[in-house]
Amino acid sequence: MTNAPRSRRVVVLASGTGSTLRAVIEAARDEAFGVRIVGVVTDKDGVGALAIAREAGIPTAVVRLADFESRALWDEAVARTVATFDPDLVLLAGFMRLLGEPSLARFGGRILNTHPALLPAYPGARGVRDALAGGAKVTGCTVILVDAGVDTGPIVAQATVEVLDDDTESTLHARIKEVERGLVTRTLGRMAREGWTVTGRTVRFGTAALTPDTPPPAPQEQS
Ligand code: GRF
Repeated sequence: MTNAPRSRRVVVLASGTGSTLRAVIEAARDEAFGVRIVGVVTDKDGVGALAIAREAGIPTAVVRLADFESRALWDEAVARTVATFDPDLVLLAGFMRLLGEPSLARFGGRILNTHPALLPAYPGARGVRDALAGGAKVTGCTVILVDAGVDTGPIVAQATVEVLDDDTESTLHARIKEVERGLVTRTLGRMAREGWTVTGRTVRFGTAALTPDTPPPAPQEQS
C-alpha cells in the first residue's frame, strides 16, 4: 500500500500541434506526478494534438464550431463534452478559442491556460508577434487561471525568454515553447499535488484543497 495522493483527473483542450500536450502526457506517465489525462478535446479534426492523444490511448472528442448553429450552442457543447470526463482540472494547451460561460460556470477556478508572453503584456492570439513588434527584449510564457477575459486571469507561473536581434516570430515562438512545456508541466503537477489558493490576484501553491476558494482547515484546538 502506498500513501500516494490520488491522481487528479485532467482534461486537455488543444487546437494545434500538441507539443505541450505531449510534454504533459510524458510527465503523467509517472504516477508520482499526480495527474491522469482523462480526455483530450479539440475544436478541429486532423490536428497534431488529436494524433498524440490517440497514440497515447487517451479518449478524445472533437467539437467543431461549424457543426453548431451558434457560438452559444458550441460553448454549451464544449462544456458538456469536457464534463463527460469529470475533470478536477482543465488545461488549455494551445486551445485557440475563448472558453464560454458554460465552461466557466462548471469549471471556473480550475481551468489553466498557457500564453506565450509575459502577461499582462501582449495578451491575445498574437502574443509572440506583438512582443516582437513592441520591441520587447525579454518575453516568455505565463500560466494563468482562466477568467472571462482574454488572458486576464490570475497568474500562476511565469518564465522568461530573451528576445534575440535576429528573431522572427517563428524562432522566438519555438524558444518560448521549449520553456513553456516545462513551465506548464511543472505548474500542472504542483497544482494537482499541492492544490492552491487565490488571494486577490495572487495565486499560491500549497493547500490540500484543490478548489481555490475552499477555506483552509480550521486550526486544531489546543487542550
Ligand atoms: C503555445 O505557445 C501556446 O501558448 C500557444 O500555442 C502554443 C501551443 O503549441 N497558445 P502546441 O500546439 O502545444 O505545440
